Amino acid sequence: MEFKFRDQFSLGVASAATQIEGGECGHNWNDWYHKGKIKDHSNPAHATDHYNLWEQDAELMAKMKIRYYRLGVEWARICPKEGEVDVAAVAHYRDELNFLEEKGISILLTIHHFTNPMWFEQKGGFTKKENLHYYLDFVALIIEAYGDVVSEYITINEPNVYATNSFYFGEWPPGEKSALKAFAVMSNMTICHIKAYRLIHSMRRNMGFQDTKVSFANHVRVFDAKNPKNPWHRICAKLLERLFQGAVTEVMLTGKFKWPLRRDKEISPGEYCDFIAINYYTRTTVSGFGDGTKQDAPKNDLGWEIYPEGLLRCAEKIYHILERPIYITENGTCDNRDTFRCRYIFEHLKVITESDLPITRYYHWCFCDNFEWIEGESARFGLVHVNFTTEERTVKRSGEFYTRIIEQQGVTNDLYEQYVESQKYNV
Ligand code: BGC
Repeated sequence: MEFKFRDQFSLGVASAATQIEGGECGHNWNDWYHKGKIKDHSNPAHATDHYNLWEQDAELMAKMKIRYYRLGVEWARICPKEGEVDVAAVAHYRDELNFLEEKGISILLTIHHFTNPMWFEQKGGFTKKENLHYYLDFVALIIEAYGDVVSEYITINEPNVYATNSFYFGEWPPGEKSALKAFAVMSNMTICHIKAYRLIHSMRRNMGFQDTKVSFANHVRVFDAKNPKNPWHRICAKLLERLFQGAVTEVMLTGKFKWPLRRDKEISPGEYCDFIAINYYTRTTVSGFGDGTKQDAPKNDLGWEIYPEGLLRCAEKIYHILERPIYITENGTCDNRDTFRCRYIFEHLKVITESDLPITRYYHWCFCDNFEWIEGESARFGLVHVNFTTEERTVKRSGEFYTRIIEQQGVTNDLYEQYVESQKYNV
Protein backbone atom coordinates (compact mmCIF):
# COMPACT_ATOMS: atom_id res chain seq x y z
CA MET A 1 0.00 0.00 0.00
CA GLU A 2 3.02 2.27 0.03
CA PHE A 3 3.81 5.06 -2.37
CA LYS A 4 6.46 7.69 -2.61
CA PHE A 5 6.22 11.06 -4.37
CA ARG A 6 8.51 11.94 -7.22
CA ASP A 7 10.96 14.77 -6.73
CA GLN A 8 9.32 18.01 -7.75
CA PHE A 9 6.01 17.18 -6.11
CA SER A 10 4.72 19.28 -3.24
CA LEU A 11 1.66 19.31 -1.03
CA GLY A 12 -0.15 22.43 0.05
CA VAL A 13 -3.56 23.66 1.14
CA ALA A 14 -6.09 26.05 -0.37
CA SER A 15 -8.66 28.57 0.84
CA ALA A 16 -10.72 31.50 -0.44
CA ALA A 17 -11.11 34.93 1.18
CA THR A 18 -14.90 34.96 1.57
CA GLN A 19 -14.94 31.47 3.00
CA ILE A 20 -12.57 32.19 5.88
CA GLU A 21 -12.20 35.90 6.59
CA GLY A 22 -15.53 36.98 8.00
CA GLY A 23 -16.54 40.63 7.96
CA GLU A 24 -19.34 42.73 6.55
CA CYS A 25 -17.55 44.13 3.50
CA GLY A 26 -20.34 44.96 1.13
CA HIS A 27 -20.02 41.96 -1.16
CA ASN A 28 -22.59 39.80 -2.87
CA TRP A 29 -22.32 36.97 -0.31
CA ASN A 30 -22.94 39.37 2.59
CA ASP A 31 -26.00 40.46 0.64
CA TRP A 32 -27.09 36.89 -0.16
CA TYR A 33 -26.98 36.07 3.56
CA HIS A 34 -29.14 39.11 4.37
CA LYS A 35 -31.63 37.87 1.77
CA GLY A 36 -31.91 34.64 3.81
CA LYS A 37 -30.42 32.41 1.12
CA ILE A 38 -27.86 30.39 3.11
CA LYS A 39 -29.33 26.96 3.86
CA ASP A 40 -28.26 26.77 7.51
CA HIS A 41 -28.52 30.56 8.04
CA SER A 42 -24.85 30.90 8.90
CA ASN A 43 -23.29 34.23 8.18
CA PRO A 44 -20.21 34.80 5.98
CA ALA A 45 -19.51 37.84 8.17
CA HIS A 46 -18.67 35.27 10.84
CA ALA A 47 -16.86 32.43 8.94
CA THR A 48 -13.54 31.55 10.62
CA ASP A 49 -12.62 35.14 11.53
CA HIS A 50 -9.39 34.63 9.63
CA TYR A 51 -9.11 38.35 8.95
CA ASN A 52 -8.25 38.71 12.64
CA LEU A 53 -6.72 35.29 13.24
CA TRP A 54 -4.41 35.18 10.20
CA GLU A 55 -1.16 35.05 12.18
CA GLN A 56 -2.40 32.19 14.27
CA ASP A 57 -3.53 30.35 11.10
CA ALA A 58 -0.18 30.85 9.37
CA GLU A 59 1.60 29.59 12.46
CA LEU A 60 -0.57 26.50 12.61
CA MET A 61 0.04 25.89 8.92
CA ALA A 62 3.80 26.10 9.41
CA LYS A 63 3.55 23.80 12.43
CA MET A 64 1.73 21.29 10.22
CA LYS A 65 4.74 21.48 7.84
CA ILE A 66 2.64 22.96 5.04
CA ARG A 67 4.86 24.90 2.63
CA TYR A 68 2.45 25.79 -0.19
CA TYR A 69 -0.68 27.85 0.26
CA ARG A 70 -3.28 28.98 -2.23
CA LEU A 71 -5.24 31.91 -0.81
CA GLY A 72 -7.34 34.76 -2.08
CA VAL A 73 -7.95 38.45 -1.61
CA GLU A 74 -11.38 40.03 -1.10
CA TRP A 75 -12.11 42.54 -3.86
CA ALA A 76 -14.90 44.27 -1.89
CA ARG A 77 -12.60 44.80 1.05
CA ILE A 78 -9.86 46.37 -1.05
CA CYS A 79 -12.27 48.36 -3.23
CA PRO A 80 -15.31 49.09 -1.03
CA LYS A 81 -16.69 51.63 -3.51
CA GLU A 82 -16.19 52.24 -7.20
CA GLY A 83 -12.84 53.97 -7.68
CA GLU A 84 -11.97 53.76 -3.96
CA VAL A 85 -9.08 51.80 -2.45
CA ASP A 86 -8.91 50.91 1.22
CA VAL A 87 -5.21 51.32 1.94
CA ALA A 88 -5.51 49.58 5.32
CA ALA A 89 -6.91 46.47 3.61
CA VAL A 90 -4.11 46.55 1.02
CA ALA A 91 -1.56 46.78 3.84
CA HIS A 92 -3.29 44.01 5.76
CA TYR A 93 -2.86 41.48 2.95
CA ARG A 94 0.71 42.61 2.41
CA ASP A 95 1.47 41.86 6.05
CA GLU A 96 -0.16 38.47 5.71
CA LEU A 97 1.73 37.59 2.51
CA ASN A 98 5.05 38.70 4.03
CA PHE A 99 4.37 36.73 7.17
CA LEU A 100 3.63 33.58 5.15
CA GLU A 101 6.89 34.03 3.22
CA GLU A 102 8.77 34.46 6.51
CA LYS A 103 7.29 31.17 7.66
CA GLY A 104 8.63 29.53 4.49
CA ILE A 105 5.18 29.17 2.92
CA SER A 106 5.06 29.76 -0.77
CA ILE A 107 2.01 31.59 -2.11
CA LEU A 108 -0.38 31.04 -4.98
CA LEU A 109 -2.70 34.04 -5.01
CA THR A 110 -6.28 33.89 -6.30
CA ILE A 111 -7.54 37.26 -7.51
CA HIS A 112 -11.23 36.42 -7.98
CA HIS A 113 -12.98 33.57 -6.18
CA PHE A 114 -16.76 33.88 -6.79
CA THR A 115 -17.31 37.07 -4.77
CA ASN A 116 -18.01 40.55 -6.14
CA PRO A 117 -18.32 43.93 -4.46
CA MET A 118 -21.97 45.04 -4.49
CA TRP A 119 -21.13 48.17 -6.50
CA PHE A 120 -19.84 45.91 -9.29
CA GLU A 121 -22.73 43.47 -8.92
CA GLN A 122 -25.25 46.33 -9.19
CA LYS A 123 -23.76 47.37 -12.52
CA GLY A 124 -24.44 43.86 -13.85
CA GLY A 125 -21.01 42.40 -12.90
CA PHE A 126 -19.54 40.00 -15.41
CA THR A 127 -22.71 39.84 -17.49
CA LYS A 128 -21.69 43.07 -19.25
CA LYS A 129 -18.63 43.50 -21.38
CA GLU A 130 -18.33 47.18 -20.48
CA ASN A 131 -17.79 46.19 -16.83
CA LEU A 132 -14.77 43.97 -17.41
CA HIS A 133 -12.30 46.82 -17.01
CA TYR A 134 -13.22 47.00 -13.31
CA TYR A 135 -11.90 43.49 -12.83
CA LEU A 136 -8.76 44.31 -14.82
CA ASP A 137 -8.21 47.48 -12.79
CA PHE A 138 -8.37 45.30 -9.71
CA VAL A 139 -5.83 42.88 -11.19
CA ALA A 140 -3.48 45.81 -11.87
CA LEU A 141 -3.93 47.05 -8.31
CA ILE A 142 -3.08 43.59 -6.92
CA ILE A 143 0.10 43.34 -8.99
CA GLU A 144 1.15 46.83 -8.05
CA ALA A 145 0.60 46.03 -4.39
CA TYR A 146 1.95 42.49 -4.18
CA GLY A 147 3.84 41.86 -7.43
CA ASP A 148 7.17 41.98 -5.63
CA VAL A 149 6.09 39.37 -3.05
CA VAL A 150 4.02 36.95 -5.13
CA SER A 151 5.03 35.35 -8.43
CA GLU A 152 2.17 32.85 -8.92
CA TYR A 153 -1.42 33.86 -9.62
CA ILE A 154 -4.84 32.42 -10.32
CA THR A 155 -6.79 35.03 -12.26
CA ILE A 156 -10.26 33.56 -11.70
CA ASN A 157 -11.55 30.60 -9.77
CA GLU A 158 -13.91 28.25 -11.61
CA PRO A 159 -15.68 30.48 -14.13
CA ASN A 160 -18.01 27.58 -15.00
CA VAL A 161 -19.16 26.97 -11.42
CA TYR A 162 -19.63 30.68 -10.84
CA ALA A 163 -21.60 31.16 -14.07
CA THR A 164 -23.83 28.12 -13.70
CA ASN A 165 -24.64 28.49 -9.99
CA SER A 166 -25.23 32.23 -10.21
CA PHE A 167 -26.91 32.56 -13.61
CA TYR A 168 -28.31 29.17 -14.59
CA PHE A 169 -29.36 27.38 -11.38
CA GLY A 170 -29.95 30.69 -9.61
CA GLU A 171 -28.75 29.33 -6.28
CA TRP A 172 -25.94 31.82 -5.85
CA PRO A 173 -26.10 35.59 -6.11
CA PRO A 174 -27.59 37.25 -8.09
CA GLY A 175 -29.91 34.25 -8.40
CA GLU A 176 -30.71 34.37 -12.11
CA LYS A 177 -31.91 31.49 -14.24
CA SER A 178 -30.81 32.09 -17.79
CA ALA A 179 -28.56 29.79 -19.81
CA LEU A 180 -27.80 32.68 -22.17
CA LYS A 181 -26.54 34.83 -19.31
CA ALA A 182 -24.49 31.97 -17.93
CA PHE A 183 -22.71 31.61 -21.28
CA ALA A 184 -22.29 35.37 -21.58
CA VAL A 185 -20.61 35.37 -18.17
CA MET A 186 -18.33 32.50 -19.15
CA SER A 187 -17.43 34.31 -22.39
CA ASN A 188 -16.69 37.51 -20.52
CA MET A 189 -14.61 35.68 -17.96
CA THR A 190 -12.48 34.16 -20.71
CA ILE A 191 -11.74 37.70 -21.90
CA CYS A 192 -10.90 38.69 -18.32
CA HIS A 193 -8.57 35.75 -17.86
CA ILE A 194 -6.69 36.25 -21.12
CA LYS A 195 -6.30 39.99 -20.57
CA ALA A 196 -5.28 39.45 -16.95
CA TYR A 197 -2.76 36.83 -18.06
CA ARG A 198 -1.11 39.36 -20.37
CA LEU A 199 -1.35 42.17 -17.87
CA ILE A 200 0.21 40.27 -14.98
CA HIS A 201 3.10 39.15 -17.17
CA SER A 202 3.76 42.60 -18.56
CA MET A 203 3.49 44.37 -15.20
CA ARG A 204 5.82 41.96 -13.44
CA ARG A 205 8.25 42.02 -16.37
CA ASN A 206 8.38 45.79 -16.03
CA MET A 207 9.07 45.34 -12.33
CA GLY A 208 12.10 43.23 -13.32
CA PHE A 209 10.69 39.76 -12.57
CA GLN A 210 11.06 36.78 -14.91
CA ASP A 211 9.43 34.13 -12.76
CA THR A 212 5.73 34.97 -13.25
CA LYS A 213 3.28 32.09 -13.44
CA VAL A 214 -0.39 32.62 -14.20
CA SER A 215 -3.38 30.35 -14.73
CA PHE A 216 -7.07 30.09 -13.89
CA ALA A 217 -8.49 27.45 -11.55
CA ASN A 218 -10.42 25.09 -13.72
CA HIS A 219 -13.23 23.12 -12.08
CA VAL A 220 -13.50 19.89 -14.03
CA ARG A 221 -15.41 16.72 -13.46
CA VAL A 222 -15.91 13.49 -15.34
CA PHE A 223 -19.15 13.21 -17.32
CA ASP A 224 -19.93 9.54 -17.96
CA ALA A 225 -23.01 8.08 -19.61
CA LYS A 226 -25.16 6.23 -17.08
CA ASN A 227 -25.56 3.42 -19.57
CA PRO A 228 -22.64 3.52 -22.03
CA LYS A 229 -24.68 1.49 -24.54
CA ASN A 230 -27.44 4.06 -24.61
CA PRO A 231 -26.73 6.62 -27.39
CA TRP A 232 -28.90 9.29 -25.71
CA HIS A 233 -26.93 9.01 -22.46
CA ARG A 234 -23.69 9.26 -24.45
CA ILE A 235 -24.83 12.32 -26.40
CA CYS A 236 -25.99 14.09 -23.24
CA ALA A 237 -22.72 13.29 -21.47
CA LYS A 238 -20.71 14.79 -24.34
CA LEU A 239 -22.92 17.83 -24.59
CA LEU A 240 -22.93 18.58 -20.86
CA GLU A 241 -19.17 18.18 -20.77
CA ARG A 242 -18.77 20.72 -23.57
CA LEU A 243 -21.28 23.21 -22.10
CA PHE A 244 -20.03 23.06 -18.53
CA GLN A 245 -16.27 22.80 -18.97
CA GLY A 246 -15.02 21.79 -22.43
CA ALA A 247 -15.54 25.10 -24.20
CA VAL A 248 -14.43 27.36 -21.38
CA THR A 249 -11.28 25.29 -20.78
CA GLU A 250 -10.23 25.46 -24.39
CA VAL A 251 -10.90 29.17 -24.82
CA MET A 252 -9.12 30.14 -21.61
CA LEU A 253 -6.06 28.09 -22.46
CA THR A 254 -5.77 28.82 -26.16
CA GLY A 255 -7.85 31.89 -27.00
CA LYS A 256 -9.57 29.84 -29.74
CA PHE A 257 -13.31 30.32 -29.40
CA LYS A 258 -15.64 27.36 -29.17
CA TRP A 259 -19.40 27.07 -29.17
CA PRO A 260 -21.35 28.00 -27.05
CA LEU A 261 -18.98 30.78 -26.00
CA ARG A 262 -18.96 34.06 -27.85
CA ARG A 263 -16.06 35.06 -30.08
CA ASP A 264 -14.34 38.32 -29.21
CA LYS A 265 -12.19 40.34 -31.55
CA GLU A 266 -9.85 41.48 -28.80
CA ILE A 267 -8.77 37.92 -28.10
CA SER A 268 -6.38 36.13 -30.41
CA PRO A 269 -5.18 32.54 -30.33
CA GLY A 270 -2.22 32.01 -28.03
CA GLU A 271 -1.12 30.14 -24.91
CA TYR A 272 -2.67 31.58 -21.81
CA CYS A 273 -1.48 29.52 -18.89
CA ASP A 274 1.91 28.73 -17.39
CA PHE A 275 0.59 25.78 -15.44
CA ILE A 276 -2.64 23.86 -15.65
CA ALA A 277 -4.70 24.42 -12.50
CA ILE A 278 -7.27 21.74 -11.80
CA ASN A 279 -9.95 21.71 -9.12
CA TYR A 280 -11.27 18.18 -9.03
CA TYR A 281 -13.98 16.70 -6.82
CA THR A 282 -16.30 14.24 -8.53
CA ARG A 283 -17.96 12.56 -11.49
CA THR A 284 -21.41 13.21 -12.93
CA THR A 285 -23.37 10.25 -14.26
CA VAL A 286 -25.50 11.35 -17.16
CA SER A 287 -28.82 10.09 -18.47
CA GLY A 288 -30.35 13.42 -19.54
CA PHE A 289 -29.87 17.14 -18.98
CA GLY A 290 -29.27 17.09 -15.27
CA ASP A 291 -26.79 16.06 -12.64
CA GLY A 292 -26.85 12.40 -11.72
CA THR A 293 -24.78 10.32 -9.35
CA LYS A 294 -23.76 6.73 -9.83
CA GLN A 295 -25.73 4.35 -7.65
CA ASP A 296 -23.86 2.23 -5.11
CA ALA A 297 -20.72 4.32 -5.56
CA PRO A 298 -18.76 5.75 -2.63
CA LYS A 299 -20.04 9.21 -1.71
CA ASN A 300 -19.19 12.09 0.59
CA ASP A 301 -21.56 13.84 3.01
CA LEU A 302 -22.97 16.04 0.22
CA GLY A 303 -23.71 12.96 -1.91
CA TRP A 304 -20.86 13.59 -4.37
CA GLU A 305 -19.33 10.46 -5.85
CA ILE A 306 -15.74 9.80 -4.75
CA TYR A 307 -13.88 8.76 -7.87
CA PRO A 308 -10.08 9.23 -7.66
CA GLU A 309 -9.30 7.98 -11.19
CA GLY A 310 -11.40 10.83 -12.53
CA LEU A 311 -8.71 13.26 -11.49
CA LEU A 312 -6.33 11.72 -14.01
CA ARG A 313 -8.95 11.42 -16.72
CA CYS A 314 -9.60 15.15 -16.44
CA ALA A 315 -5.94 16.08 -16.18
CA GLU A 316 -5.05 14.03 -19.27
CA LYS A 317 -7.69 15.77 -21.37
CA ILE A 318 -6.46 19.22 -20.45
CA TYR A 319 -2.79 18.32 -20.82
CA HIS A 320 -3.64 17.24 -24.32
CA ILE A 321 -4.82 20.78 -25.12
CA LEU A 322 -1.74 22.50 -23.71
CA GLU A 323 1.26 20.70 -22.26
CA ARG A 324 2.12 22.48 -19.04
CA PRO A 325 3.02 21.38 -15.51
CA ILE A 326 -0.15 20.50 -13.62
CA TYR A 327 -1.14 21.81 -10.21
CA ILE A 328 -4.15 20.27 -8.50
CA THR A 329 -5.32 23.57 -7.04
CA GLU A 330 -8.25 21.99 -5.15
CA ASN A 331 -9.17 18.47 -4.16
CA GLY A 332 -10.94 17.48 -0.98
CA THR A 333 -14.20 16.27 0.44
CA CYS A 334 -17.10 17.06 2.70
CA ASP A 335 -16.64 14.66 5.60
CA ASN A 336 -18.30 16.24 8.60
CA ARG A 337 -17.01 13.74 11.12
CA ASP A 338 -13.59 13.22 9.52
CA THR A 339 -14.19 9.50 9.20
CA PHE A 340 -13.04 8.94 5.60
CA ARG A 341 -10.92 11.97 4.66
CA CYS A 342 -7.64 10.06 5.19
CA ARG A 343 -8.77 7.41 2.73
CA TYR A 344 -9.85 10.10 0.28
CA ILE A 345 -6.47 11.83 0.47
CA PHE A 346 -4.61 8.54 0.20
CA GLU A 347 -6.52 7.38 -2.88
CA HIS A 348 -6.23 10.68 -4.74
CA LEU A 349 -2.52 11.01 -4.05
CA LYS A 350 -1.97 7.39 -5.01
CA VAL A 351 -3.42 7.81 -8.50
CA ILE A 352 -1.25 10.90 -8.93
CA THR A 353 1.93 8.98 -8.08
CA GLU A 354 0.95 6.26 -10.53
CA SER A 355 0.53 8.66 -13.42
CA ASP A 356 3.09 9.83 -15.97
CA LEU A 357 1.51 13.29 -16.14
CA PRO A 358 3.71 16.12 -14.83
CA ILE A 359 1.59 16.82 -11.74
CA THR A 360 3.88 18.87 -9.52
CA ARG A 361 1.60 20.29 -6.83
CA TYR A 362 -1.44 19.24 -4.86
CA TYR A 363 -3.38 21.76 -2.76
CA HIS A 364 -5.86 20.13 -0.42
CA TRP A 365 -9.22 21.85 -0.16
CA CYS A 366 -9.13 23.09 2.43
CA PHE A 367 -6.97 24.10 5.35
CA CYS A 368 -9.76 24.57 7.89
CA ASP A 369 -13.54 24.13 7.91
CA ASN A 370 -15.10 27.26 6.53
CA PHE A 371 -18.12 29.02 5.06
CA GLU A 372 -19.10 26.60 2.30
CA TRP A 373 -21.17 29.04 0.21
CA ILE A 374 -24.83 28.08 0.10
CA GLU A 375 -24.24 25.19 2.56
CA GLY A 376 -22.91 27.64 5.15
CA GLU A 377 -20.96 26.17 8.05
CA SER A 378 -22.66 22.77 7.76
CA ALA A 379 -20.34 21.23 5.18
CA ARG A 380 -16.88 20.60 6.59
CA PHE A 381 -14.01 20.18 4.16
CA GLY A 382 -11.08 21.13 6.45
CA LEU A 383 -7.96 19.38 7.69
CA VAL A 384 -8.43 21.55 10.75
CA HIS A 385 -11.69 21.57 12.70
CA VAL A 386 -13.21 24.96 13.48
CA ASN A 387 -15.56 25.44 16.39
CA PHE A 388 -17.73 28.15 14.85
CA THR A 389 -18.84 29.43 18.26
CA THR A 390 -15.42 29.97 19.78
CA GLU A 391 -13.40 29.97 16.50
CA GLU A 392 -11.07 27.48 18.12
CA ARG A 393 -8.99 25.41 15.68
CA THR A 394 -8.16 21.75 16.30
CA VAL A 395 -6.11 19.68 13.89
CA LYS A 396 -8.18 16.72 12.72
CA ARG A 397 -6.85 13.19 12.35
CA SER A 398 -6.75 13.81 8.59
CA GLY A 399 -4.68 16.95 9.28
CA GLU A 400 -2.24 14.86 11.28
CA PHE A 401 -2.10 12.35 8.44
CA TYR A 402 -1.40 15.14 5.94
CA THR A 403 1.56 16.34 8.00
CA ARG A 404 2.93 12.81 8.19
CA ILE A 405 2.63 12.47 4.40
CA ILE A 406 4.53 15.73 3.94
CA GLU A 407 7.26 14.57 6.32
CA GLN A 408 7.62 11.22 4.62
CA GLN A 409 6.98 12.45 1.07
CA GLY A 410 4.59 9.57 0.57
CA VAL A 411 2.60 7.01 2.49
CA THR A 412 4.32 4.06 4.16
CA ASN A 413 2.59 0.81 5.10
CA ASP A 414 2.67 1.90 8.71
CA LEU A 415 0.91 5.15 7.93
CA TYR A 416 -1.64 3.32 5.79
CA GLU A 417 -2.47 0.93 8.62
CA GLN A 418 -2.65 3.69 11.15
CA TYR A 419 -4.80 6.20 9.24
CA VAL A 420 -6.45 4.64 6.20
CA GLU A 421 -7.10 0.93 6.49
CA SER A 422 -10.17 1.04 8.71
CA GLN A 423 -11.82 4.04 7.01
CA LYS A 424 -14.95 3.52 4.90
CA TYR A 425 -16.88 5.86 2.59
CA ASN A 426 -20.62 6.40 2.64
CA VAL A 427 -22.45 4.49 -0.11
C1 BGC B 1 -14.73 25.95 -4.85
C2 BGC B 1 -14.60 26.14 -3.36
C3 BGC B 1 -15.58 25.24 -2.64
C4 BGC B 1 -15.27 23.81 -3.00
C5 BGC B 1 -16.13 22.77 -2.30
C6 BGC B 1 -14.88 24.51 -5.28
O1 BGC B 1 -15.72 24.39 -6.37
O2 BGC B 1 -13.70 26.60 -5.51
O3 BGC B 1 -14.80 27.49 -3.06
O4 BGC B 1 -15.59 25.43 -1.27
O5 BGC B 1 -15.47 23.66 -4.38
O6 BGC B 1 -17.46 22.90 -2.66
